[in-house]
Amino acid sequence: MKHQIIIDTDPGQDDAVAILLALASPEIELLGICAVAGNVPLHLTEVNARKVCELAGKHETKVYAGAIRPIFRSLITAEHVHGKTGLDGPVLPEPKMPLQKQYAPDFIIDTLMSRPAGTVTLCCLGPLTNIALALVKEPRIAPRIKRIIAMGGGWSEGGNITPVAEFNIYVDPHAARLVFDCGAPITLLPLDVTHQALTTRSRIEKFRVMKNQTGPAVAAMLDFFERFDVEKYGSDGGPLHDPCVIAWLLQPDLFTGKDVNVAVECDSELTMGQTVIDWWRVSGRETNAHVVRGINSDGFFEMLSERLLSLS
Ligand code: BDR
Ligand code: CA
Repeated sequence: MKHQIIIDTDPGQDDAVAILLALASPEIELLGICAVAGNVPLHLTEVNARKVCELAGKHETKVYAGAIRPIFRSLITAEHVHGKTGLDGPVLPEPKMPLQKQYAPDFIIDTLMSRPAGTVTLCCLGPLTNIALALVKEPRIAPRIKRIIAMGGGWSEGGNITPVAEFNIYVDPHAARLVFDCGAPITLLPLDVTHQALTTRSRIEKFRVMKNQTGPAVAAMLDFFERFDVEKYGSDGGPLHDPCVIAWLLQPDLFTGKDVNVAVECDSELTMGQTVIDWWRVSGRETNAHVVRGINSDGFFEMLSERLLSLS
């Protein structure tokens, strides 16, 4: 049976690659894409999600718009990383496929309530606002979720937007706390693992020489995306965060991790959005997430190249 998934996302070049990986994977049935405000405001993330589907030739994909802002805090965005459009790099045409009318959190609720319990996976690539809003409106969805797989947080790597907070969790820490407390199985892919998935020159070149329209467009996205992180970290390439979520779903044996407790700081302004990951299990708090720290990065990029080659 195929993985039935909903992607919740704020594209973003790395979100775009994650969406493309899902669209290119025959083991996945993508039920819908939910856009959320994050890297750039919602009116851009929903358009970007549709642009990416059209790039892949998947015009029939359903894209929904959700939360325009985080639950309590004001929206902060990341144009300094992703550019003004959120998807700077390649020139992609304005999308023709329609935006669905339904509000994304309602789509999440309807999908989880109408399908058999334990069949739908939520793949979360941005701030967790849409998921939290769905959980608050209809708490009965929580035990029906097969698994939430989310990119966010950090442990030994610290943060990327504050010294201790990662962007997705920092933007809406209250939503993240709600999600981590909801009781559904969760896999977390924090900076500790995504900082090992680097877009080196040779990896980007593999995308550039593909004889389809997706490969060169991905190379152009990554050229733009990596410039900020290369300068920041002095590394060969930037971390390709969000595709790790889809890769973990498809091939978990590329990764290693451990079941631990994750709590989210929502009170201190200094450490707001920090994921307190109890890696050594010293808190006595109950396990609520599988936290991934290791990756076979060559295997990950091989799978990505192989899959993207199958798109238009
Ligand atoms: C996360 O923040 C965003 O900028 C990326 O798309 C990724 O989801 C990394 O911290
Ligand atoms: Ca993202």
